Amino acid sequence: MRPLLAEPTEEEIDMSIHVKAAPSQFPPPMTSMTPREHGDPCSLVIFGATGDLAKRKLFPAVYHLAKGRLLAHDFRLIGMDRAAMTDDEFRILVKKCVEASEEISGFDQATWEDFEHRLYYLQGDLTQTSAYTTLRDRLHALEEKLEARSANRLFYLSVPPFIFREIIDHLSSSGLAPRTESPKTRPWARIIIEKPFGHNLASALSLNQLVLSHFNEHQIYRIDHYLGKETVQNILVFRAANAIFEPIWNRNHISHVQITAAETVGVESRGNYYEHAGVVRDMFQNHLMQLLALTAMELPHQMKANLVRDEKVKAIRSIRPFTLGAFQEAVRAQYAPGEIKGKPVQGYRQEPGVAADSMTPTYAAIKLMIDNGRWRGVPFYLRSGKRMAKRVTEIAIEFHKPAYLIDGLTGLEPGTEVESNVLVLRVQPNDGVTLRFSAKAPGAALALTPEIEVATVDMDFTYTEAFGQTLSPAYETLILDCMIGDATLFTRSDEVEAGWHVTDPLLEYWAANPPASGLPTYPSGSWGPEEADRLLEKDGFAWRKP
Ligand code: BG6
Repeated sequence: MRPLLAEPTEEEIDMSIHVKAAPSQFPPPMTSMTPREHGDPCSLVIFGATGDLAKRKLFPAVYHLAKGRLLAHDFRLIGMDRAAMTDDEFRILVKKCVEASEEISGFDQATWEDFEHRLYYLQGDLTQTSAYTTLRDRLHALEEKLEARSANRLFYLSVPPFIFREIIDHLSSSGLAPRTESPKTRPWARIIIEKPFGHNLASALSLNQLVLSHFNEHQIYRIDHYLGKETVQNILVFRAANAIFEPIWNRNHISHVQITAAETVGVESRGNYYEHAGVVRDMFQNHLMQLLALTAMELPHQMKANLVRDEKVKAIRSIRPFTLGAFQEAVRAQYAPGEIKGKPVQGYRQEPGVAADSMTPTYAAIKLMIDNGRWRGVPFYLRSGKRMAKRVTEIAIEFHKPAYLIDGLTGLEPGTEVESNVLVLRVQPNDGVTLRFSAKAPGAALALTPEIEVATVDMDFTYTEAFGQTLSPAYETLILDCMIGDATLFTRSDEVEAGWHVTDPLLEYWAANPPASGLPTYPSGSWGPEEADRLLEKDGFAWRKP
């Protein structure tokens, strides 16, 4: 990707934001996607190589990088897990995952034939020292013919969080991943840590302390795959590159913001994990917090990793701590049986790995206030749930209504108001932007008021229509960024901790105060519990039904 505002200096190359150049004409040419630079030569070691994430997301993403010629000539992938498997069996597994992936377009035999020779597998118990000795021997053998400075290593912790600590300790003590002083040191060793980063503030602080005791921050990539989504990256570009929006991006013009991440899927086979996580740890502390931060932050004066992250941290730290009233109006609920796409589905408590009397919320809706000059008094409503009516992630910015509406303009009942302008940043599906505004419905002449009718219409931009290409899956972007050394789309330690400062008190309050009349439920396939509607009604608003 190309830098947005300035060419990075040599020192900054590891930390600069890269974005695609904007097309200079409309409609843009079909070839408007800017080519990306390829990753450094490296060994990508995936711990947890037989797990769900590796199979569904990571293998297809790396294959797709190969297809786009974005891997260095000296790239290899080593999968590691407890299961016994030969290199050939691993190659068959990866091929099946690539062919089954819906996120990437088309399987290419020629790419595969080159790619499969870069795939290796090692069996090992990651809690045992012997696993790291085996890995070291294999890496040495694979790196034998390389120039020393090309023997870079990227370790991906795609494993349950309870073994993060052990792996980090072993990686350091075995010498497999030495601490490097500068982002420019070669060969480099980097570590990707999957979410959830901690279970609460205390455990996140202690995990950060541990990882920073072995590595420098520039070696640590805390992944939040939402930041790899094109439309999430677009939030900053949209704000920075369009002079008409930033001047109205504040309390003077915006009445409130709704951030929705609704899923139709349930917890699938992840009941054991989800029972301990719940929706706030799974979606709010990371993904929704990032969407809020990018919407609310001040724009950095340069698009550099640390400057962007400084501003995000400031925005998150400006969120007003929950008061007792805010705790009480925060909504939690669990999905009950219902229908998704016309098919009956079971409730959360019937899912495998879930307790029959589970109190884990699969839906939450909260209101956050940001105490700074830009946002004072503007509520940010956040909601997320599984098994909802529709899969949609969006940020809806709702503007104030006109201060004065010319008498009789609507032609409707006295007191009826026009709808507010809404700017919707659609993260998925149909990634793009919609601006909703009012227009005169065709018909009566202006002079014939009050017959004039005002209708609400949408102006729409969709990525695939405008650029003629499907977007890269988030993991592809992020893995490539790690191989290049661009940390912009990863969360820094202070950012993770700031997020926990917001959500931890709510989780503690909820744990100590189970709902008196049981946890509310919502039918699968609905828009969530009624309590969530009341959260907005009290303030004179209503949730969008996208
Ligand atoms: C993950 C959560 O981080 O994000 C999952 O653990 C959730 O529970 C997923 O389903 C949603 O990601 P996406 O990209 O499908 O919105």
